[in-house]
Amino acid sequence: MKAAVYTRYGPPEVLEIKDVEKPVPRDSEVLVRIHATTVSAGDWRMRKADPFIARFMNGLWGPRKVQILGMEFAGTIESVGKSVTRFEAGDQVFGSTGFKFGAHAEYACLAEDGLLAIKPVNMTFEEGAAVLFGGVSALHFLRKAKIQAGQKVLIYGASGSVGVFAVQLAKHFGAHVTGVCSTANLDLVKSLGADEVVDYTKEDFSGAGRIYDVVFDTVGKSGWSRSLKALKRGGCYVRVGGAGRLSSILGDILRGIWVSSTSATKVIGGMAREGGGDVAFLKALIEAGKLRTVIDRRYSLEQIAEAHGYVEAGHKKGHVVILLEHDYRSHRRTGSADTAPAVARGRRRGPDVRDEVCHPDRRTRGHGVRDAGRCALRVGDCRVVDVLQPGALVRARGCHRSDDRRAVRDIAPGPRVDCWRRDGDVVLFPGDPRPEPRPGCGFGELQTFEGWPRR
Ligand SMILES: NC(=O)c1ccc[n+]([C@@H]2O[C@H](COP(=O)([O-])OP(=O)(O)OC[C@H]3O[C@@H](n4cnc5c(N)ncnc54)[C@H](OP(=O)(O)O)[C@@H]3O)[C@@H](O)[C@H]2O)c1
Repeated sequence: MKAAVYTRYGPPEVLEIKDVEKPVPRDSEVLVRIHATTVSAGDWRMRKADPFIARFMNGLWGPRKVQILGMEFAGTIESVGKSVTRFEAGDQVFGSTGFKFGAHAEYACLAEDGLLAIKPVNMTFEEGAAVLFGGVSALHFLRKAKIQAGQKVLIYGASGSVGVFAVQLAKHFGAHVTGVCSTANLDLVKSLGADEVVDYTKEDFSGAGRIYDVVFDTVGKSGWSRSLKALKRGGCYVRVGGAGRLSSILGDILRGIWVSSTSATKVIGGMAREGGGDVAFLKALIEAGKLRTVIDRRYSLEQIAEAHGYVEAGHKKGHVVILLEHDYRSHRRTGSADTAPAVARGRRRGPDVRDEVCHPDRRTRGHGVRDAGRCALRVGDCRVVDVLQPGALVRARGCHRSDDRRAVRDIAPGPRVDCWRRDGDVVLFPGDPRPEPRPGCGFGELQTFEGWPRR
């Protein structure tokens, strides 16, 4: 199988695509064919051995234990070990390999009782891959802070992979949320539900006498004195991320112990751990439409060094996804034979052909579109939404504003509606009912979408 392998610590260029042996599941493991994975802060830190203590985990002079990075994924179970009872071949799953890494490959083995679950019905593989690193971390630290409804919570670094989940989860727990991010991300953070946003390039979140119950710093840049000043008595300062230098880590730990023991403020840090049931909890929120992922960029496995460079720069929005080059057609779930076992076991399962259509290299194929009458609609900045019949394949351009993308979703609701950030495409998938025009949405303008395949 193909995998991104590194055999020395260093810059993104140390990553090489190699053919390695396909793993074989043990009795209690499943073998997952990975369709999508992410590059997270954990990956580039491990690649560089930053912080230095990563070397104690993975080899002092070079990576020994882990040579394939990748902490989260979504894919299809290819085979299961003898004693596996929770999954079977063909199940579409999402999961995390945690500090075992190994997801930047075509296949990975996981224990059936590991961080693994059936993919949410309303998520594609790429969305499913981008849940657990940020979601579990945000949930762990919000729970440690004993977040309660009505509390004022400041999420510093609200636009990163931990931040986007922290904002949504804090809102779910009933908090009044202020998100701190740069100008470019203000709309995004608002769209995640933040009650207020602070642009850190223009404003100091601790200014104007603002006081919070919890200051939740996902990136370790909120600053000790500003954060402590902005906390009410008995408040909680959560430090999820931080600088990689050993001296800074030790300094932060000592300072946290000192502040917690000499004042009413509680300082929380350390490593996130999945609490039993976290994956099911996150999945239920996703399926209820209360939690979503944010995907910034997509890369192929061959472009993984580029993806690492982008992520390491520290300004991604939500997640960066790596799409594996499998043939998604072989994983379509449109036939009853394929879905029957899952239905018999009482699981909800729907056809999921979006990955197939959405794959950057494949999206122009237009699977399922045969012919047709067509119409178009215009929503705000979305210049063209092209609806092909039958099967309503909808494509919009220029959907850069989240409000407009939401409006398109409203017009054509359902889990199989997507909005592409990269070029503003919105795609509705074959099988979705044709969206009905609603008053005021500007439906009816006929447009030709150049380059769109006609069959
Ligand atoms: N303790 C744990 O168990 C644990 C778990 C998960 C992650 N982490 C650590 O937490 C950190 C964050 O992880 P992540 O995955 O969320 O990172 P990330 O996705 O790479 O964070 C990127 C975001 O950080 C924001 N940012 C950068 N500089 C900022 C600043 N000065 N002020 C405010 N926001 C700023 C960026 O927004 P702009 O572009 O707007 O600047 C960007 O959206 C990493 O260091 C990671 O290693 C720790």
